[in-house]
Amino acid sequence: MINIALPKGRLGESVYKSLAKIGYECPELLSDSRKLVFENEEKGVRYILVKHSDVAVYVEHGAADVGIVGYDVIAENEPDVFELFDLDIGKCNLAVAAPKGFRDDNRETLRVATKYPNAAKKYYSSINREIEIIELHGSIELAPIIGLSDVIVDIVETGTTLRENGLEVCTIIQASSARLIANKSSYQFKRDSIEKMIFGLENK
Ligand code: PRP
Repeated sequence: MINIALPKGRLGESVYKSLAKIGYECPELLSDSRKLVFENEEKGVRYILVKHSDVAVYVEHGAADVGIVGYDVIAENEPDVFELFDLDIGKCNLAVAAPKGFRDDNRETLRVATKYPNAAKKYYSSINREIEIIELHGSIELAPIIGLSDVIVDIVETGTTLRENGLEVCTIIQASSARLIANKSSYQFKRDSIEKMIFGLENK
């Protein structure tokens, strides 16, 4: 049995469809239900649906053998897992964004709202800019609009959320896409199954 951690939502659904095509189907997963664990004993696969930012936690602790997670989350949390394959989907950028026309005058500490505190600190320390991190867990775009922060560091995919809130990208920090990650001991003990999965995804 191979245990796969999928992020809930669009990315997870799209990855599931690819995995189903290469022999890891579990049709109940696409049903409109609140279930979080789906198993197909015949195919030897169990899916768990988790919050995107938690996928690597499940994999690192061995609660899942493999998982699909954005590079943005890997770079932020540096989990102790193997990063095996770039699925080339779920593409987005981690970027600094601010209200249109914002200019950083460098005289004061820059207030940065983000759910990526490590990536934000790393970026601003690389350009020697003093900042204060305001850590949030969602709706980051709200922070500079209501004066909680000067800028945000967040994921930009289509750019719609920024546009609709009068913000614009100032700098792209890093590109991201979905990656297949594996638990280190699972990769040792279930190597054949995991490599078969990678081969299937590469050649689908
Ligand atoms: C992410 C991200 C942005 C948005 C970007 O939020 O934090 O808010 O998607 O996507 P776009 O460029 O296509 O508009 P998410 O949907 O994960 O919700 P959250 O605000 O609760 O984190």
